[in-house]
Amino acid sequence: MTHYPKAFIFDLDGVITDTAEFHFLAWQKLAQELGVSMDRQFNEQLKGISRMESLERILELTPSSRSLSYEERLRLANQKNDHYLEFIDLINPDYILPGIESLLKKIKAQHIKIALGSASKNALKVLEKLLLTNYFDYVVDATKVTKGKPNPETFTTAADFLNIPYSECIGLEDAAVGVEAINKANMFSVGVGALEHLSHADYLVGNTSELMFEEIVKRYNEKI
Ligand code: BG6
Ligand code: MG
Repeated sequence: MTHYPKAFIFDLDGVITDTAEFHFLAWQKLAQELGVSMDRQFNEQLKGISRMESLERILELTPSSRSLSYEERLRLANQKNDHYLEFIDLINPDYILPGIESLLKKIKAQHIKIALGSASKNALKVLEKLLLTNYFDYVVDATKVTKGKPNPETFTTAADFLNIPYSECIGLEDAAVGVEAINKANMFSVGVGALEHLSHADYLVGNTSELMFEEIVKRYNEKI
């Protein structure tokens, strides 16, 4: 008999919508302003990481930044966020990635809980712009956790709130640190992206249009 999970916990940026690209473009713009170049390969390590930690990694590329005060760092982080907000100002439900809304509908139809597990402080705003807020029983964003991914806290906080054992949860992620966080939480991890970065996922798809409810549940059942 099929065993259904009790919750799906979705990462936001790069899973529900392609805001991962806007984060990249905003960081790239900031890097340019700092006189350093930053490519997509470098960006992989920023996926799923908090705003301040991402800034620190970019500043490591610029020797002159070592002397920057905390206030100056905060100003740079705000500058990046201003660039990002310009991008997300434009988004609407057309920016939901293929297959995501039908997956959310299927999960809801099975009366399975849905949560968000995002490292972003802008998560609620993005969900609202996509008109997806009503699907979510609980939202964990950067304001609700002290330890970011790859620490499992983002995912365990969602499961704890919903009062669901971790082994009954499925987490979906596009970031290597995100898949690591799901695995550390003892949840079933679904990776969305390339094997090169996400080989540690329990189940991997190349893109969101391949996310099928029945297949995810089947793979989950094969593991439990
Ligand atoms: C994560 C993204 O979801 O949120 C990162 O993958 C981003 O790229 C992080 O830096 C923090 O986002 P924000 O919106 O709080 O700056
Ligand atoms: Mg992501």
